Amino acid sequence: MKVDVILGLQWGDEGKGKIVDYLAEEYDIIARFQGGPNAGHTLVINGRKHVLHTIPSGIFRSGCLNLIGNGVVIDPTTLVKEIKALKEDGIPVEERLVIAKRANLILPTHKILDAASESAKGNSKIGSTLKGIGPTYMDKTGRNGLRIGDLLDEDFIVKYELLKNKHLSLIQIYQYDFELEDMEKEWFAAIEEIRKLNLVESTYFINDHIKNGKKILAEGAQGTMLDIDFGTYPFVTSSNTISAAVCTGLGISPKHIGEVIGITKAYCTRVGGGPFPSELNDETGEKIRQIGHEFGATTGRPRRCGWIDIPALKYACFLNGVTAIVITKMDILQQFEQFYAADKYVYDGKTTTELPFDMCKTAVAVTLQAFKNWGDNDITKDNLPDEVKTFIAWLENQLDVPVKWLSFGPEREKLVFLEG
Ligand code: GDP
Ligand code: IMO
Ligand code: MG
Repeated sequence: MKVDVILGLQWGDEGKGKIVDYLAEEYDIIARFQGGPNAGHTLVINGRKHVLHTIPSGIFRSGCLNLIGNGVVIDPTTLVKEIKALKEDGIPVEERLVIAKRANLILPTHKILDAASESAKGNSKIGSTLKGIGPTYMDKTGRNGLRIGDLLDEDFIVKYELLKNKHLSLIQIYQYDFELEDMEKEWFAAIEEIRKLNLVESTYFINDHIKNGKKILAEGAQGTMLDIDFGTYPFVTSSNTISAAVCTGLGISPKHIGEVIGITKAYCTRVGGGPFPSELNDETGEKIRQIGHEFGATTGRPRRCGWIDIPALKYACFLNGVTAIVITKMDILQQFEQFYAADKYVYDGKTTTELPFDMCKTAVAVTLQAFKNWGDNDITKDNLPDEVKTFIAWLENQLDVPVKWLSFGPEREKLVFLEG
């Protein structure tokens, strides 16, 4: 059986959580393959809102196992809080959750380093979520990291102290005040809980399940434009967010990858610093933010808003090998009598759909295509308003990928499948 993938095509927050939760019903295993608690995936089930940071979005489905893969970085403190909140909602998390021993640990000092490094950047801040993501991936690739499996070693505390002391000397580079004691207390209490969970050599776990014909869905975090290699560097996250990362983040071969479902909002948002060619720094942008409730699920920060960005989506489609597209937040566009799509970039005297090497150094303007809204007409499978059909046909033509689902509300059931 192939492993299908769901991931974001923009700068994150495309609605991955909602779509994974919906599709999870058809899968046996949902697996996160990268990122960490910088992610905030929102699910609205029976009128109740849940935000997941590290736990895959299949956790509400009784038939699903949820794997936190080796490519993920885990903060025990956040994870234990997430588990507690889910258990209070009656979800038997321990039965449904499996964690890769190879996943790297976020230490309290990684979070302090993240905050210290950001504050030293002044005006050129990345806008990090300050969850310790960058410093943890740095230690991973620098071959200094601690992993979930290390929690089971008798000398774990020795390894911890070594790394912590290294961090403490690094923090001295910055003029940064911090309080470690309470964070550490909470962290050590949390690792006691983590040790009791189902910790596995996940490569065997997942490949055995593939061999046994189980259906697996890989859940991305962040979005293509935040990819460490292909995003708007340096205003990116510290992991590869594209479909290639499914192989390294779960330990599977490329031959096992099946459908790649890319999610885009019907418009575009980004949170934090960095280039955003179709951004609307005006009343329209503010209107999108208010109607679309565009405030971060992890940090609560206002998201920057703009029209859908076709050149960036084209790029995301070929980088990921997208086979089907989901468009979320169609209901928000409905509030605009006329809405737009940025179909081309203009820079260095040319009009193109190609992204420049360095978007941070290139002044990019956009050309816009106008579309009419569909009034109060509901979007249903059997009755797609003509204006919706026109917009979707145009997008499919631009991106050369079929649009298979339209989402028109945060709730699980507000999704329409477009056949053929
Ligand atoms: P993720 O990080 O990709 O999972 O997305 P987030 O959860 O950070 O942000 C998406 C937000 O949009 C959440 O508040 C969702 O509940 C909400 N949402 C998802 N799909 C729709 C939709 O079709 N319409 C509306 N109005 N909200 C949606
Ligand atoms: P989900 O999975 C939106 C952004 C941050 C910042 C940059 C680097 O919910 O889509 P980091 O904490 O990774 O060092 O921050 O990346 N960012 C996200 N933006 N959605 C996310 O995740 C994000 N995760 C990180 O705002 O600009
Ligand atoms: Mg999010």
